[in-house]
Amino acid sequence: MKTVLITGGTGGIGRAAAIGLASMGARVGITGRDRARAEVAAAEITRASGNPAVDVFVADLSSQAEVRQLAAEVLAAYPRLDVLLNNVGGFWAHRHVTVDGLERTFALNHLAPFLLTDLLLDRLVASAPARVVTVSSGAQAMGKIDFDDLMGERRYSGQRAYNQSKLANVMFTYELAGRLEGTGVTANALHPGMTNTGFSAEDPARAFAPLVAVLRPFMRSPERGADTAVYLASSPEVEGVTGRYFSDRKARKSSKSSYDGATTARLWDVSADLVGSTSQPRRRPERL
Ligand SMILES: NC(=O)c1ccc[n+]([C@@H]2O[C@H](COP(=O)([O-])OP(=O)(O)OC[C@H]3O[C@@H](n4cnc5c(N)ncnc54)[C@H](OP(=O)(O)O)[C@@H]3O)[C@@H](O)[C@H]2O)c1
Repeated sequence: MKTVLITGGTGGIGRAAAIGLASMGARVGITGRDRARAEVAAAEITRASGNPAVDVFVADLSSQAEVRQLAAEVLAAYPRLDVLLNNVGGFWAHRHVTVDGLERTFALNHLAPFLLTDLLLDRLVASAPARVVTVSSGAQAMGKIDFDDLMGERRYSGQRAYNQSKLANVMFTYELAGRLEGTGVTANALHPGMTNTGFSAEDPARAFAPLVAVLRPFMRSPERGADTAVYLASSPEVEGVTGRYFSDRKARKSSKSSYDGATTARLWDVSADLVGSTSQPRRRPERL
């Protein structure tokens, strides 16, 4: 039985992915911030998939201490881990700061999966062949990594912060894939498509609400939005495929800047500093 950890499996795309993967017979761990809500979601996933092997982990991923606690619990619970699906992400029209003093979009959308992957990496490598799948967005195409103002301290725009974080998901994936060469662990990112979920509903500014109300009838179901994530997590067709950005099950070009190795390496180093990472994955081997 494959073991899969999905961040944010209590709703939206993550919950639909959990149902899809549990239906294939995987043991699925889901995360959420509230235990009662997560237990309800786990029961729904079990009911929809017919699979009782659904576990609940509780963590607010905007807190690095909670990411570390989550990783410790996952390592204790799962002797092997075949897939890590980094799914959680959010949008805020106005700037908010996490308990760690970091801008929330960057912290939750990029640093949380960066840190969680790092903490689970040895277990993934020991379980190889294994997969790291990270949910990005088409917004990556408009992203720019602003190293001079990563946290939007000087100038904040919700859209810019979101675009940057989703580009960071892709750059993280490419850099991780390079660093994992030869380990049997693959890393891919994806755009799920515009999907009918609770996305951005927690933003107190409710900036997207009018747009979402108009677009909702044209949005994908969560099941359809989760399709590429489920595909990348499970399909034999992508066994060994790594360092790619997908949408609708196809490898696509991501933004030009995402392929700039100097920038992906710099983002990696800056991110490692920001999370106080100690167990650095191996450096990308020098190519001749
Ligand atoms: N929906 C779209 O159209 C769309 C398009 C492109 C990309 N995406 C990306 O798809 C991913 C999933 O989005 P979605 O649309 O499914 O959003 P969603 O419905 O808002 O996702 C909800 C999930 O995220 C969890 N979550 C939210 N904040 C959290 C936090 N601070 N710590 C831990 N968990 C947290 C929630 O858990 P609890 O509330 O139970 O804690 C819940 O399980 C995101 O990365 C998003 O950027 C979505």
